[in-house]
Amino acid sequence: MRRALVIGNSDGIGLALTRRLLDEGWTVRGLSRSDSPLSHASYSHVRGDVVTAAIPSDPVDLCVYAAGVGELLDLGDLAAQTRAIEVNLLGAARTVEAVVPAMVAAGSGHLVGLSSLADVVISADAPGYAASKAGLTAYLLGLRAALRPHGVAVTAVRFGFVDTKMAKGASRPLMIAVDEAVEVLMRGIRRRPAVISYPRRVSAAARLIRLSARATLR
Ligand SMILES: NC(=O)c1ccc[n+]([C@@H]2O[C@H](COP(=O)([O-])OP(=O)(O)OC[C@H]3O[C@@H](n4cnc5c(N)ncnc54)[C@H](OP(=O)(O)O)[C@@H]3O)[C@@H](O)[C@H]2O)c1
Repeated sequence: MRRALVIGNSDGIGLALTRRLLDEGWTVRGLSRSDSPLSHASYSHVRGDVVTAAIPSDPVDLCVYAAGVGELLDLGDLAAQTRAIEVNLLGAARTVEAVVPAMVAAGSGHLVGLSSLADVVISADAPGYAASKAGLTAYLLGLRAALRPHGVAVTAVRFGFVDTKMAKGASRPLMIAVDEAVEVLMRGIRRRPAVISYPRRVSAAARLIRLSARATLR
């Protein structure tokens, strides 16, 4: 029996991935602030906020951190930028604290974090989101190196635009469907690479955006 914990799965990519894991015979526990729309014998749900809730620490083979928020910058509401850093980065760090010790004790396990291609972008539109993802990717890659000798794999997943309620900006080039994102994730769960950057063309564009943003920094 393969056991997974999916954090942030009442909606979007986390929900679609949870459905797929259940279809493939996994036992899954999820966590989000809202109730889950799922009803399945192999599924249990914990309601909570990643910033404050006790994250389940029972042994799992796979943990996917899919919780995330992101708001466009409003200088009258900088708390929304702080919130992105709390949920996307500190929530992930709290999840690592909860799940990694049992993985290390077992000498196996896979931690997958949904970062973003925005992790390289210098963004005046959503600086808190970009900062949270830069921090998340850096943390996951460092953990990958540290945990490899303990038999634990870590993967940072960097998507461009995925068709969920989060992708609400006016411009969403090469946006992919949630089902495509789930296919990419399932391949990553089987192969356990360090980084998945998808789609490649958006990844290249993100690097170019970073270069041009750096050129304008004074
Ligand atoms: N969609 C994209 O274009 C895109 C692109 C690149 C990366 N990503 C990343 O992929 C991940 C999933 O995004 P998505 O598109 O699936 O977003 P989504 O549809 O908005 O879903 C986000 C999920 O995170 C949960 N969540 C948010 N804040 C939470 C909190 N404080 N505590 C617990 N759960 C929380 C939400 O549940 P509740 O509201 O019920 O708590 C929801 O289940 C995010 O990290 C996002 O940054 C998305």
